[in-house]
Amino acid sequence: MTEELAKTGIEGLDEVLGGGIPRGRCILVVGGPGTGKTILGAQFIYNGAKKYGEKGLIVTLEEGAPILKADLRKLGFDLDELENEGLIKIVDHSVVNYLPSEKFRELVKFMDMPVFKAASLLETLKNTIKSLGASRVVIDSISALTFQVADPVERRLHTMLIFKTLLDSGCTSIVISEAKTSQLEREFIFEEYLADGVIVLQNIYQEGNLVKCVYVEKMRGASHDTQPRPYRIDYGGIMVFPKERVFASFNPFSGGV
Ligand SMILES: Nc1ncnc2c1ncn2[C@@H]1O[C@H](COP(=O)(O)OP(=O)(O)OP(=O)(O)O)[C@@H](O)[C@H]1O
Ligand SMILES: [Mg+2]
Repeated sequence: MTEELAKTGIEGLDEVLGGGIPRGRCILVVGGPGTGKTILGAQFIYNGAKKYGEKGLIVTLEEGAPILKADLRKLGFDLDELENEGLIKIVDHSVVNYLPSEKFRELVKFMDMPVFKAASLLETLKNTIKSLGASRVVIDSISALTFQVADPVERRLHTMLIFKTLLDSGCTSIVISEAKTSQLEREFIFEEYLADGVIVLQNIYQEGNLVKCVYVEKMRGASHDTQPRPYRIDYGGIMVFPKERVFASFNPFSGGV
């Protein structure tokens, strides 16, 4: 059973997941700003290489690679070391996040940069997975990746292509997505139906305190915890408390901020 699951190696999270992420599947990590999505994804890749001998790829579309590495170093994770050893690779497409598409295209005419295209990134993804021999992939984030595609139908198509590419690669993948609201009662996003599993990260107010909580919304083919559990971010990264309750009795429609 264990070999069918890719452990995240994140304290407490594998217990909540029922052992880990089903291998070869593509799951979504959805959460509000600053909930720790990037850290979770980076730890999945870091631990994969460091603890389980699985090579991993991070495609960053949010922070640039130097900022991502500096932030992770502060938490005790040296991504440079693993990259230099050829165990992980960080593909940096972060610049696309800052400008709307037309302005971006105008600007890149004057800058020596390739124009971002979702399709070209898919090729990069396929080629890098193959050349690295990656078993784990993180896309951070799909929201930034499809941000240039204005048409909603086209955007869905791109999203489906990304998921298909990841599934076809055989890698165990985490796709990060921004939640539109931090309310517990929220609109589901299309990616949640497409993904094999969904992990939700949320900041909630409870008795005057801001509590970070995580729950597994779904995980196809796995027996997982169904309760929200509190977690902390500190040196050493994310620490989930799988035995602690956030609510005395879980009411998904109250307590959100
Ligand atoms: N060195 C640190 N010590 C303690 N907590 C930290 C440290 N670095 C980051 N954090 C916590 O992690 C959060 C940022 O994590 P992360 O960048 O993974 O969030 P995110 O969900 O990806 O955010 P965004 O939506 O902006 O991309 C911070 O808001 C802070 O709470
Ligand atoms: Mg992030």
